[in-house]
Amino acid sequence: MEIEREQLQVLFTREQLAQKVSCTAKRITEDYNGKNPLIIGVLNGAFMFFADLVREVDIPCEVDFVRAESYSGKFSIGEVTLSLKGKLPVCGRDIIIVEDILDTGRTLNKIREEILKDSPKSVKTAVLFDKPSRRTVDFKADYICFEIPDLFVVGYGLDCDEKYRNLPFVAVKK
Ligand code: IMP
Ligand code: MG
Repeated sequence: MEIEREQLQVLFTREQLAQKVSCTAKRITEDYNGKNPLIIGVLNGAFMFFADLVREVDIPCEVDFVRAESYSGKFSIGEVTLSLKGKLPVCGRDIIIVEDILDTGRTLNKIREEILKDSPKSVKTAVLFDKPSRRTVDFKADYICFEIPDLFVVGYGLDCDEKYRNLPFVAVKK
């Protein structure tokens, strides 16, 4: 792990992440005051962001998870697979989808399309990172913690070939 860490350049520290996640949770708390949203995390990449975010959402809510795969190593393989659907019914619910990165837009677009089929009351999306320069599908997230340029980042849930997810900071893989 030591040698591998030498190839990483820290982009956001634990403190910077916590501060932004907390701001986003406050906005969600205000926007969903009096509601009971179903907050759906996208596995695996969003697991850490999701856990930190929902911990600070100060209203009643429920949580669930979906799993989507679109990446092989550093390169997008294009097609998005939903290999796990959520367990809780979304019909009539206010849904917030929580994802790690909005990159080409294909993953969130596919997940939102699937959820819309089950007639939710509303659907919004929250992402830790937005890479707008990479977009191939027209998609805008409602809550964005950080906008970043076209860099491949790891840590805080994000992986490169399943490695680095456990890092408490976000780094650029050199
Ligand atoms: P999209 O479908 O192209 O928007 O891709 C979104 C998915 O690609 C995310 O859920 C991530 O799993 C993965 N991804 C995109 N960029 C990065 C990155 O910089 N590091 C790690 N995973 C990434
Ligand atoms: Mg992902």
